[in-house]
Amino acid sequence: MSQALHPMLNVAIKAARTAGTIINRASLDLDILKVTTKSANDFVTEVDHRCEEAIIETLLGAYPGHGILAEESGRTHGAKNSEYVWIIDPLDGTTNFIHGLPFYAVSIALAFRDQIQQAVVYDPTRNDLFYASKGRGAFMNDKRLRVSKRTRLSDSLVGTGFPFRKGDNFQRYLKMFAEVMTSCAGVRRPGAAALDLCYVAAGHYDAFFETGLNPWDIAAASLIITEAGGLIGNFTGEADFMYQREVVAGNPKIYAQMVNILAPFTRIIKDAPAAGTPGEAAP
Ligand code: IPD
Ligand code: CA
Ligand code: CA
Ligand code: CA
Repeated sequence: MSQALHPMLNVAIKAARTAGTIINRASLDLDILKVTTKSANDFVTEVDHRCEEAIIETLLGAYPGHGILAEESGRTHGAKNSEYVWIIDPLDGTTNFIHGLPFYAVSIALAFRDQIQQAVVYDPTRNDLFYASKGRGAFMNDKRLRVSKRTRLSDSLVGTGFPFRKGDNFQRYLKMFAEVMTSCAGVRRPGAAALDLCYVAAGHYDAFFETGLNPWDIAAASLIITEAGGLIGNFTGEADFMYQREVVAGNPKIYAQMVNILAPFTRIIKDAPAAGTPGEAAP
């Protein structure tokens, strides 16, 4: 990118790289990693916590008046009433990280009055830095990102995430999965939603869908996708997705075809409050 980066984006990049260094160091000796379980199949490690602390320290060091919404500590840090809120996933893909499967990332977004303005997703294994500022395009390192140009779902590669928590509605997911799988050319489930969504922005996938995601999984990548020319929304194709626990993204043509398939599976009840509140496990 030839233009200077927005100062707030620069701070987010610094925070993400600091967390990436912590992750890369810890990945060298996973045998000593301390892992605890939030609920069945839902893990957290000391690295998730250390990264989150380092990210918050960097962000609040630069912007002490800003608010924070972070996966592991919720809203306990930062100002409570700021119009600026940083939305942080310190380590997206914890299960992969625990197993030494090199597909995980750090995700940091800045919302101003609930609109994402700055976004960073950093893959420390590949040193891939995805970033965007609203209205200024999306990039991976120095490369401008554009969504794919594929026009038919039958030719498309689709990313997804599987439900995994006890109490998740597996049957509902399997039905929509069957519909998508039999309509497209292939499906992938790498296991880090923030990075998966950036792969839509990069044109590797033509679309992505998942249920049960939280704002910290999707906030940063949502701006990176739209700045790369893609669309992201809920299963009925509306922009209200951040707290709705159902998300679909893609290039505009494939997005529309995915919405046709997924709309019957929506659980959004019009005019009702969003299912769950930030910080809760997916229902
Ligand atoms: C998880 C990953 C995974 C997705 C889960 C997320 P975490 O995030 O993004 O791919 O399927 O729904 O919770 O817990 O590893 O940050
Ligand atoms: Ca987690
Ligand atoms: Ca996550
Ligand atoms: Ca996480």
